Amino acid sequence: MTNYKELGLVNSRELFRKAMEGHYAIPAFNFNNMEQLQAIVSACAETKSPVILQVSKGARNYANQTLLRYMAQGAVEYAKELGVAVPIVLHLDHGDSFELCQSCIEYGFSSVMIDGSHLPYAENIELTKKVVEYAHKYDVTVEGELGVLAGIEDEVQAEHHTYTQPEEVEDFVKNTGVDSLAISIGTSHGANKFKPEQCTRNADGILVPPPLRFDILEEVEKRIPGFPIVLHGSSSVPQDLVATINKYGGALKDAIGIPEEQLRKAASSAVCKINIDSDGRLAMTAAVREVLATKPAEFDPRKYLGPARDCLRELYKHKIINVLGSNDRIQKEC
Ligand code: G3H
Ligand code: 13P
Ligand code: ZN
Repeated sequence: MTNYKELGLVNSRELFRKAMEGHYAIPAFNFNNMEQLQAIVSACAETKSPVILQVSKGARNYANQTLLRYMAQGAVEYAKELGVAVPIVLHLDHGDSFELCQSCIEYGFSSVMIDGSHLPYAENIELTKKVVEYAHKYDVTVEGELGVLAGIEDEVQAEHHTYTQPEEVEDFVKNTGVDSLAISIGTSHGANKFKPEQCTRNADGILVPPPLRFDILEEVEKRIPGFPIVLHGSSSVPQDLVATINKYGGALKDAIGIPEEQLRKAASSAVCKINIDSDGRLAMTAAVREVLATKPAEFDPRKYLGPARDCLRELYKHKIINVLGSNDRIQKEC
């Protein structure tokens, strides 16, 4: 058993308290390899932002649980080397079982999500409560979820998409003891969040997706005032990255994300954690495709993964400063 404190990590409790007070959100960036981790840590050190490093079940299998433990510890040390003591949370994204959450906690995670959102309400409560009881013994924080995020690639999932019902949140939080709650207000995972026919066109001919359901968010805030809310599926799908990918041989069609101004608005509310994965994938892919297409004789991975890392770092800095507002929140220099 490795306790996350031995690795120099923190749980999310204090970060969320400060984010709520300061009306900003903590970035939760997914990672599974070294270049992504370097980009996240250097972006956060440069902007003086705390961060949540997220690892999905698939990413954990890809990277290896033991390597991840050392990578997280390395991230803490790397940030110090860059001159800033960045508070770093290592978080399980979309945990789907008690056993997975338990194993992550044993391998040094400081926070876990148990995603019982697809289960009947009573079963979601039962599973989430079980994870909370275990996690809290080790001072690990837990994120639960109510409401199912839409997914437009899979029609069945789209049909079963449900917004969070505000009437349930107070009871859920009280009965499970979770530390934060992910809600469904119109975001979804991936790079195709809306069908073009769901969008309108602005004066410049740009597709504008339907707005997030801020009315639901406000209702939730009224019922559990001061409680940390999480937004999943919060990539904006930058159209310049999509264009670069397609210019250099990619085939992304109808890729549409959440407009950044809506996420900025969410970040200034009770939303304390904003999850971004797809935009990072787009940034890396755009940079790699460009190098491979324009320099076909290149075969040193550093020559395309290096630019991918640079592109990612710039994307993360942009998100931190212009979307989440989590920059300049660290006082401690090393
Ligand atoms: O919410 C899902 C994240 O984007 C992680 O995706 O399961 O493909 O690693 P993944
Ligand atoms: P995106 O696919 O919008 O980046 O969402 C990521 C996410 O919610 C990870 O849990
Ligand atoms: Zn998610």
